[in-house]
Parts: sequence; structure tokens; C-alpha cells
Amino acid sequence: MKKIISVCMGDGVGPEVVNEGVKVLKIISDYTEFNFEFKDAPAGGEVWKKIGTNLPEKSFETIQNSDALLFGALGLPDLPPGVAESAIMKIRQGLDLYVNLRPVKLYDVLREKCPLKDEFIGNGIDITFVRENTEGLYKNVGNLKEDSAQNLMLYTRNGCERIIKFAFEFAKRKGHKIVTSVDKANLLNTSKLWRKIFHEMSGNYSNIETEDIFIDAFTQWLIRAPYRFQTVVTGNMFGDIISDEGAFLIGSLGMGSSGNIHPGKVSMYEPIHGSAPDIAGKGIANPIGTILSVKLMLQESFNSLEIGNEVDKAVEEALNEGRTVDIKSAKLKTLSTEEMGDLIAEKLKSSLKK
Ligand code: NAI
Ligand code: MG
Repeated sequence: MKKIISVCMGDGVGPEVVNEGVKVLKIISDYTEFNFEFKDAPAGGEVWKKIGTNLPEKSFETIQNSDALLFGALGLPDLPPGVAESAIMKIRQGLDLYVNLRPVKLYDVLREKCPLKDEFIGNGIDITFVRENTEGLYKNVGNLKEDSAQNLMLYTRNGCERIIKFAFEFAKRKGHKIVTSVDKANLLNTSKLWRKIFHEMSGNYSNIETEDIFIDAFTQWLIRAPYRFQTVVTGNMFGDIISDEGAFLIGSLGMGSSGNIHPGKVSMYEPIHGSAPDIAGKGIANPIGTILSVKLMLQESFNSLEIGNEVDKAVEEALNEGRTVDIKSAKLKTLSTEEMGDLIAEKLKSSLKK
């Protein structure tokens, strides 16, 4: 099964972690029926410095003509904010990637790295945030004047329906029992529409329970009882905030993975962290967020639940033997980015060979 994967290394630690993601993809290409071909699609701050654009047309074309995009992170400390990073929005909007999928899973072996007390972790954390990624406040409709500024928070029926449908279908696929919708329907018109559509659509999924929680209360529940959530669906801005809060629970920002998805079309997979200029070039960044983004690519774009699960297993096994410095353990060897990637690739290889 041939697939073309476009690769955007990006800035800072981007290339360091993406190399490890590609390493894992190459193992899969060597030991399964998949056959991956990689195509460079440079974007970001380094590119901007060379040619004055953060997303060359040729890169966008390469991305459009691929089956999926593996993406590092953008941003350079010597450039004004946004100069590099706005390429991400161009890709999200340009490909209409309306789903931002962000799993938050605490591996048992990393329980001690979770900032919550054991009683709040309960029987474990395994939540998937499904965030609307193209509408609402981040669509950049509004103005900025000297004495006032505005952003339009616009949601359409179509925009709400497609993301809520994705969430229910995702929950069904994963065997989740409950879908939680997060909104602010006591105040916002946009949330009233959202909630109405959420309830309408829940009728098509009679085996899945639903609940509505207001955003302010949800931020508390997420640290008070994270074990009770499975699939959580929400709008663009609320999703941005609570998925970051959630990511804090899994031991390190470097562990967080994500997909920017349009089902059936070319989608983008990236770690949730940024270019981490403070550690760039040192070879110590955690590549697991990127490797778990590869898992998402396999499951969401290439329809391979099984190999995605093998990647997950390889990560968990590797975490028992060695770790990067951000999640280090006195009992285990501390590894570089490359060594962490090698260890995971080795675990994956031996399970795929069987
Ligand atoms: P950041 O995520 O780059 O770093 C925050 C902290 O987490 C730093 O202390 C960093 O060392 C640590 N960290 C990040 N990734 C890590 C990894 N893989 N392993 C271990 N530790 C890791 O966020 P920050 O510092 O706010 O932003 C830096 C640049 O990245 C900025 O230019 C920002 O705009 C950009 N950014 C880009 C994103 C993207 O490309 N999607 C997302 C977030 C920020
Ligand atoms: Mg964010």
C-alpha cells in the first residue's frame, strides 16, 4: 500500500523530533504492507529568513498532493511572534482541517510524573479531545483599532454538525461509553446553537451516553476527576485551552500528540509542543509526541488501528527502559532524542517481525 507522506521539519527542535517520527515510519514501511515515500515540504521561520515566505507555494503543493503531512513545530525567538507560526493557520485553513484531535493518555509507567495526587488520577487518564479547528474566534474575522478591537465568534450549523459527528463516530470506534460536550450555553449564543446540535445528533448514537459541562466547571473537573472523561468535544477556543490543560497531566509537553484532520483528505499530524528554542540543538527533546502523532496518522489517515496500537505498545515498552530528560527516572537510563527514537523503533521492529 503506497502512501506519500509530506514532511515539514520546521524550526528549533522540529527537525530533531521529526527525524524520530520518520524513523518509526520507515520501520513500518519495511515490515508491513505499507510502502511510504517521503517528500520535503519546508515551512516556518528558517524558510522565511531565506526567501521571505513561511509557506512556499511549492511546499503547499507537495502537501496537497500527499496522503498525509508529518509536521514538526514553527517559531524562532529572533522573529516577531507569528512570522513563522502563521504558516500553520494557512495549512489548517487551506486544507479545511476541521478536526483537531488531541489524545491525553497517561501511561501507567509515568503515573509518578503526573502533577496530580494519586487519588485524583484514580483508575487512569485516557481522554481524547475533539476540538473544532476552523470556526469561532480563531478564524481571524474582526479588527484591531487604537481604542477597540474585536473578533467575531461565528459558528455555522454545518461547522458544528461535522465536528460533533466526528466526535460521536470516534467514540463509537473506540468503544467509548460517553461523549462530553463542553460549552458556555448559559451565556453564549454560539454555545446555544452548539448544544442544540449536540443533542440532535446524539439521537443517532443511542448506545453512547452524553453530558454537557460548562467550560469554567470543566477546567476544574479535568484536574479533579480526569478519569471520568473519554471523548470530549468542544469549540475552537475552549478546545485550545482545555487540551493544553489536559496535556499537562501526561508527564511532559513533549509527550503530547495531535492530528489536524479532514476525514478522507490530506491531514496533518504534529506534536503539540512548539519549537522549544531553550533546548533546540541539544539533542534532548522528547520525540514521543511526534511518534504518537505518527500513531494517529496510521489510525486516522491510513485506517490502520492495529499498527497504530503497535506503535503505542512500543512507546510504552521503551518507557520502561529509558527516557529523555524531561521524564527521567533515577532508576532508568537517560536518553537523547535519537536514542529514545532508536529504542522505540527497535521495540516496534521486533513486534512487527513476529
Ligand atoms: P514550547 O512548546 O516550544 O516550549 C515550552 C516548554 O516545553 C519549554 O521549556 C520547552 O523546552 C519544553 N518542551 C517543548 N517541547 C519539548 C520536547 N519535545 N521535549 C522536552 N521538552 C519540551 O512553547 P513556547 O516556548 O511557548 O514556544 C516556543 C516557540 O514555539 C514560539 O515561537 C511559539 O510561537 C512556537 N509554537 C509553535 C507551535 C507549533 O508549531 N505548533 C505550538 C506552540 C508554540
Ligand atoms: Mg495551543
